[in-house]
Amino acid sequence: MSFYELGDERAKQFPVSFTDWEAKARELLAAGPFGYVFGGAGAGDTMEANLRGLRQYRLQPRICCDVSETDIGIELLGRKANVPFLLAPIGVNSIFHPDSEMAVAKAAAKLGVPYVLSNVSSTSMEKIADTMGEALRWFQLYPPRNEELTRSFLRRAEQSGYSAIVVTVDSTLLGWRETDLHNAYLPFLEGHGMANYFSDPVFLSQLKQSPEDDLKQAVLKALSEGNNTRLSWKHFSTLRDWTKLPILLKGITHPHDALLAIEHGADGIIVSNHGGRQLDGAIGTIEALPEIIKSVSDKVPIIVDGGFRRGADILKGIALGATAVQIGRPYIYGLAVGGQAGVEQVILNLTAETELQLAISGKSRIRDVDRSMIWKIDQPL
Ligand code: FNR
Repeated sequence: MSFYELGDERAKQFPVSFTDWEAKARELLAAGPFGYVFGGAGAGDTMEANLRGLRQYRLQPRICCDVSETDIGIELLGRKANVPFLLAPIGVNSIFHPDSEMAVAKAAAKLGVPYVLSNVSSTSMEKIADTMGEALRWFQLYPPRNEELTRSFLRRAEQSGYSAIVVTVDSTLLGWRETDLHNAYLPFLEGHGMANYFSDPVFLSQLKQSPEDDLKQAVLKALSEGNNTRLSWKHFSTLRDWTKLPILLKGITHPHDALLAIEHGADGIIVSNHGGRQLDGAIGTIEALPEIIKSVSDKVPIIVDGGFRRGADILKGIALGATAVQIGRPYIYGLAVGGQAGVEQVILNLTAETELQLAISGKSRIRDVDRSMIWKIDQPL
């Protein structure tokens, strides 16, 4: 009930709905940074498919189930999380707020939400680790071309308490993003998102000149490491052997790839199309999820992201068999609007709405949400 109580000053200060957060962020950010988070690839069809896919499902509630106690906590790779969602890896947070990933990490740690730190964060993984203490965090890697650099990133993540590695495999090339092309905006070129590279001894040792002396040369070298178009299953198997941490593969939408990932040692799958920012015209993630769940059965945890904006969406993802859902743009709009307090408010709203939705759907525990409470319809709203 607290959200309906007039005394909740913060709830009055910040927007409630996703569209209002987005509108407020649009008002506050310059065209370049706003376009960078808002936009998708090409015609935006993949981004739309994520949203439309979710609208194709309907929840069917049960009644008189005693829902006086609710629990939306989950277990992920042996660790507990207070909520069934994670904060997805999103880089270059300094373009959205001066406190950048630091604000996100503090909010996540305070509220018990797992945080996946991006490889291209504006704050180094060690600084984020210091701020998060024991709180649950994973490190996302764009597997570099260079073996030594890859091993260095993995070693640093292990040493600073990240408990899993998320290897993103859908972005060896940057998608055709028309808003960014129109704005001639690529945040990396201004040095954003380079903190993990510019603090890496292997990376620095391979530069001709330091980033202070030649920023452009250093950024282009980092970007070329990430543009690893030679990436193959063989490469992934090798990488798998370089760390004892669990590895999740992010960017899978095909059931065969999910099985190949497991065959090559993945400990989890993240069904994702990068929020519709990579392959335009691709399948929506919620459309891809059921086939992947069927093929993988219970072998490894499956996380899904893309278009999840509210409690109903989270319930739908879990009902279709995902272990957890990842949230992207919503928390970045929270960051842009209110720094740490904004991210916290987005998390609190999502948490409260998910709890409420769970109870109204007739379930007490998120882990009891299953396929029996969801329907696919032919005509989405
Ligand atoms: C991303 N995403 C992303 N993914 C990743 O693995 N590493 C990264 O650095 C980034 N960076 C990034 C920047 C921005 C501005 C956005 C919007 C997205 C993709 C992200 O992890 C996630 O897959 C999507 O954001 C999920 O979709 P929604 O929730 O934004 O619709």
